Amino acid sequence: MEYTAEVMDHFSNPRNVGTIEDASGIGTVGNAQCGDIMKIYLKIENDTVEDAKFKTFGCGAAVATSSIATELIIGKTIAEALQITNKKVMDALGGLPSTKVHCSLLAEEALHAAFWDYAQKNDLTIEGVKPPQEHEH
Ligand code: FES
Repeated sequence: MEYTAEVMDHFSNPRNVGTIEDASGIGTVGNAQCGDIMKIYLKIENDTVEDAKFKTFGCGAAVATSSIATELIIGKTIAEALQITNKKVMDALGGLPSTKVHCSLLAEEALHAAFWDYAQKNDLTIEGVKPPQEHEH
């Protein structure tokens, strides 16, 4: 399978690249196998994702999935944002080649890690958010 036009668009022109100075939560995850790293920054106010930025040192699919994941969660409540799974991210991109599915998992994990960080900083429990896992390969 080839990359869809959406994947190419988000890869060539990624949205929301950067950092957030006073982020409410930051999630960093890596894939030990390919060595790619993704970092997501969230600004959360009134239980809503006001802003999201990312930095991805990784393959084109990882860049494209982090780009669209940030687009999908901005303006959503935390509960809604947690519904954005790697499958939803892939659907929004019109699919990914099967060898690239793990790249979209990185986006879901980075998001969860950022919400976990936010919860830790604010002494909250967010349903469905688990501590980031270390990946051993
Ligand atoms: Fe590593 Fe895509 S090959 S995230």
